Amino acid sequence: MARSLISLALLVTMAGVAGAAEQGEVLRSPTCECCHAWVEHMKSNGFDLTMKDLPRSELNQQKARLGMGGKYASCHTAKIGGYVIEGHVPAADVQRLLETKPDAIGLSVPGMPIGSPGMEVDGRQDAYDVLLVKKDGSSEVFTRHEAVTAN
Ligand code: CU
Ligand code: CU
Repeated sequence: MARSLISLALLVTMAGVAGAAEQGEVLRSPTCECCHAWVEHMKSNGFDLTMKDLPRSELNQQKARLGMGGKYASCHTAKIGGYVIEGHVPAADVQRLLETKPDAIGLSVPGMPIGSPGMEVDGRQDAYDVLLVKKDGSSEVFTRHEAVTAN
């Protein structure tokens, strides 16, 4: 009995060290393919995401309701750790968001910039900003990702 309690304690400690996978849900349109690539990127960085398909019009309503409509909109909308993650946001930026916990709606990469995670095109990476979207609808640059040109 005592022995199994000790191993249980050890298991719990180890799980704490490894960090439980952060879970979340990704709202997407069934006709969109790049979301799969982004979800794979997130999975390989320790996120455990499930996908939920919605008709385009309903997805757009959800984006607007969550504060990620209009100029912040991209293809998919994820809900992770109490934040909304819109579009092809790098996992490292989501991790930093969850660690620093700013008072905000979440992060957005508007549109679908080439070279953002899930939007890879051989040898091309355009510059893009990850925006921190505030509750009042304003935003600021959270991370600037510079262009990378391959020759
Ligand atoms: Cu996309
Ligand atoms: Cu997509």
